[in-house]
Amino acid sequence: MNAPGPPTGRTGLAAQQSQRVFDTWTAQKDASPLEIVAGQGAFFQTADGARWFDFGSMTWNANLGHGHPGMRQALVNAAERGLLTYPSSVFPDKVRAAELLLEVAPRGLAGGKVFLCLSGAEANENAVKMARLVTGRRKIVYRSRSYHGATLGMLSYSGDPRRKAFDPGLSDGICWDDRYEATAGPGDLESAIQAAGPDSVAAVLLEGVVGANGVFVPPTGYYRQIRQVCDRYGVMFIADEVLSGFGRTGRWFAVDHDGVSPDILTCAKGLTAGYAPGGAVVASGRIARHFDDAVLSCGLTAYAHPLTCAAIVAAITAYRDEGLIRRAARLGDGLRVQLRLLGQKRPYIQETRGLGLLWAIELREGGSGTPPATPARMKALAGNLRQRHLHMHKRDNLIFVAPPLIISDEDLQAGLVALGDALDATWAAPPARPPR
Ligand SMILES: Cc1ncc(COP(=O)(O)O)c(C=O)c1O
Repeated sequence: MNAPGPPTGRTGLAAQQSQRVFDTWTAQKDASPLEIVAGQGAFFQTADGARWFDFGSMTWNANLGHGHPGMRQALVNAAERGLLTYPSSVFPDKVRAAELLLEVAPRGLAGGKVFLCLSGAEANENAVKMARLVTGRRKIVYRSRSYHGATLGMLSYSGDPRRKAFDPGLSDGICWDDRYEATAGPGDLESAIQAAGPDSVAAVLLEGVVGANGVFVPPTGYYRQIRQVCDRYGVMFIADEVLSGFGRTGRWFAVDHDGVSPDILTCAKGLTAGYAPGGAVVASGRIARHFDDAVLSCGLTAYAHPLTCAAIVAAITAYRDEGLIRRAARLGDGLRVQLRLLGQKRPYIQETRGLGLLWAIELREGGSGTPPATPARMKALAGNLRQRHLHMHKRDNLIFVAPPLIISDEDLQAGLVALGDALDATWAAPPARPPR
């Protein structure tokens, strides 16, 4: 059978790739992928010789930037060992990865245990399974504004619009529509649990600092309130820290802003900083003890893969030894001011919001009262960002600023200047025609 034709405009390796490999979350003809050939620090290089700012940390995961020497060496060593393992194999990096993870996890998880998988979605799937196994209850309360992964299960427990194509998803999900900017707390979480029947609710699955769905930062004390409500009804609190973990918000984990320990914390992305696939479930001592006798019906072939474990050890060591969590907080304070200044001069910037090195810029067509930036405008902006070699995530009328934690003050500043130029060029041009 003939291979499908390459999407228009692609040449060379990109054209070859498009005949054989799918691009994610897009009609294939609309994708315009970059051929990355190298990287150093907060920059990467493409095959045409251009040097790009990585203002999106690849997929929000390259927290240690590109070409990190410690990460490279750890993976070379692990690859040279060429160790093949099965899920319950014993080896030093596996023990060390779990020890380090438990050391940096919120204090209440210190006596717990770690389950090692390959992605954020898998971590959340396994967390939900554990909560069901431990409580004997089925229902999962999830927040409308959240994303927990692309598996059918995790799409079912999120209000992300991308779930619509697959509905109906798993049953036993209770959606709680939380607008904490308005309510300064977890809104009607308690009523949602009461309506569901508290004895049937296993867990609240929460992306506390919403990432890809628009960067919404909860008010101080929010996690404490969630913890209290969960405790009142014997419901487990699962904190999804896949995107917000490992310094992204200026703390090891977003729950640390409130000093709260969930029952289960899930992580991925920054866990291996993108150098190997990796995800983890960190479960409390109480959950760990439950499975001393009960069967843990969770597993995968590449459980605790040696390359994953080596990457986890090297990444946590780098965050710690290089003081990167404090650094993210400091850079984030500066970024807050710089983004405010960026917005002051540009009436089409409706809002900048975030913390640490996780920010969203919300755009509208003109000054106050004008509609959100149109798809045509956002397409023009994407072109202008590309021209200036700025890799940034975009969604609807939002662009995201999420550079690696190792970025220098000067490079952050230079990237923001390039971003300002791209915005100015986009809004100086006559209104673009809608894309066809
Ligand atoms: C908060 C959150 N949870 C879970 C996931 C899913 O992670 P993965 O893509 O590694 O499955 C993501 C991915 O972006 C995420 O942002």
